[in-house]
Formats: sequence, structure tokens, C-alpha cells
Amino acid sequence: MDKATAVANPNIAFIKYWGKAHEALNLPANPSLSMNLAGLTTVTTVEFRPGLAADSVVIDGEPAQDQARQRVVAHLDRVRALARTDRRALVASRNDFPAGTGLASSASAFAALTLAAGRAAGLVLDEGALSRLARRASGSACRSVVGGFALWEGDGDETSFARQVAPPSFWELRDLVAIVGREHKGVGSQQGHALAASSPLNAARLEAVPGLLALALDAVRARDLSALGPVVEADALAMHGVMMTSWPSLLYWLPATVAVLRAVRAWREEGLDVFFTLDAGPNVHCLCEAARADEAERRLRRLPGVLDVLASGPGGGVRLVDYDLF
Ligand code: DP6
Repeated sequence: MDKATAVANPNIAFIKYWGKAHEALNLPANPSLSMNLAGLTTVTTVEFRPGLAADSVVIDGEPAQDQARQRVVAHLDRVRALARTDRRALVASRNDFPAGTGLASSASAFAALTLAAGRAAGLVLDEGALSRLARRASGSACRSVVGGFALWEGDGDETSFARQVAPPSFWELRDLVAIVGREHKGVGSQQGHALAASSPLNAARLEAVPGLLALALDAVRARDLSALGPVVEADALAMHGVMMTSWPSLLYWLPATVAVLRAVRAWREEGLDVFFTLDAGPNVHCLCEAARADEAERRLRRLPGVLDVLASGPGGGVRLVDYDLF
């Protein structure tokens, strides 16, 4: 087989990956914990075809340009090296959610590319090896390889990959993403990671992470949102504190971002258990139990500045499908 198609979901981190211990290898400065998002998908087909002069990469119907193309070609090179082939590839990829808005499109994109390209090249990789390979392309992609709730830890190239903490069916948690901006962000997380160390707050955040991670893991295993939520909010705000105080400073929030954060806290006062987190973008991920999701979504949609709400439950790991995008 020299053609394969894979589907992957992005993930939302409860404890964030922000800053790298090794840039080229994408070794993170700290371990992270996430949930895959079933409602959002990337589908990617890869075919290694003899006689092609160069890789062709089409994303959402458009030929990929510059850095976006370079990142895909660099990952195909990793797969080619493992499979000992020099065949070039045709790649087509489609997202059903807006890219570049802090919805972690690189996570699902590179998880899907890793499985599709690996399989198309004839590699047989177990979940750990896939996660490790996906990590080389984009750190957060290693968590999307694993289904449900994923912990990414490990210090070296060999040991740094994501393992499952609990399968998707374990907990009917919901993530309602309040979309408040659709513009492609100015500074992506790839460049952002390099700035983390310039913030005077970075060391303090990294020191707090092990304690928060232990609390978050216990809370996930106990399916206890009232224990998980405050921890998730604390690390998201710590990460954005680091971003804002980096040099140069990164400020991803819009006025509507702050409006959603304040509304979520006010709703909690009224007894609606919702907690927020944010990635490298202005959109706000709101976590709640499935039973409260309709009410929370209704309230989010009524807030001025909220353009849309994308609802997800826990998603599966990266998987092969038997259709293709060509
Ligand atoms: C803010 O995985 O996009 O979403 O490894 O450079 O591709 P690269 O970075 P990326 O960083 C994600 C950062 C984050 C937090 C998180 O998902 O943990």
C-alpha cells in the first residue's frame, strides 16, 4: 500500500505545554495533560508516488505555501528516512474548523499526517512510536495521537510521548469553544514557545506545574470537574501571564475574550459549573459536564462578541479511514 488516509482530532490542554527544553526535538519544558476534541477533525491523505519531482501539499483546497509547506515536507522527510524511501508524496488535508485561531490545528494536522504518511510508506508503528514521531512535527500533536485524555511526559527523545490516562468514554466532559475572533494569529505557538524563557514569570509557572499536574490527574481519574476546573484555569492564566510578559510580549486576548472569562466566573457564582481555558489565541474553551452543556452553550451564544460556539466531547485517537481526499 502506498496511499493512506487518517483522521485526527485536535486537543485542549488542561495543563499547558509552553516553552521547549529542546527546540529541534520538540522536547517540552514541562509535562502536559489534554483531552481530544471529538467535534473537530482533520482528514489527511498521503500517497507516495514514484516519479514525482517534489511533494505536493494541498490544505483546505489551496496549495500550502512557505512555512506551512516546509513543515509538512520536513515531516515527510522524517517518515522517508524511517522507511528508507526517496519517493515524493501527494498530500491533501482538510479541517472542519478554522485554522490559526488557537484551536490547535497543528495538533490534529500532524497527528493525521504522521499516521497517513507512516502507513503509506509501509511503516508499522505502535501508538507510542506514532506519538513520538508526531511530536517531532508539533509537540501538541503527540497528544492527539492518543484517544481520550492524554498525558505527555518523558525527558528525552526516546521517552517523550503521550500516553492515555483514560479513554474517551470515561468521562462525559464537554468543551464549548466560544469563537470570538477568526483572524489568523500574528505569532503562532511555534515562535511563541521560544519567547517563554524571556518572561520573568516563566520560572514561577514551571515550578507550579508539577503540583497542578498531580491535582489535574487526580481530578480526571475521579471525574471531578470542581477539582479539575480551578487547576485548569490557574495554568491557562499562568501561561497567558507568561505570554503577556514575554519580550516581545504576546497578547492574544480580545475584549470579547475577557467578557467570556468574566461571564464564566459569574455563571459559576450562580451555580452553573463551567470553567475556562485558552490556547495561543483569543477563543475561550469552556469546560462543563454534558448535562450542563446546553445551558452553557445558550448563555455563551447570547454574549456580545461571541461569533460561534463549537461543542465537543472527548475524542478518539488518530485512526485510518478507507476513503481518500483525491
Ligand atoms: C498554547 O504544539 O502548537 O496550544 O510544538 O511548536 O508545534 P509546536 O507547538 P504547539 O504548541 C501548543 C501550545 C498551546 C498549549 C498546549 O496545547 O499545550
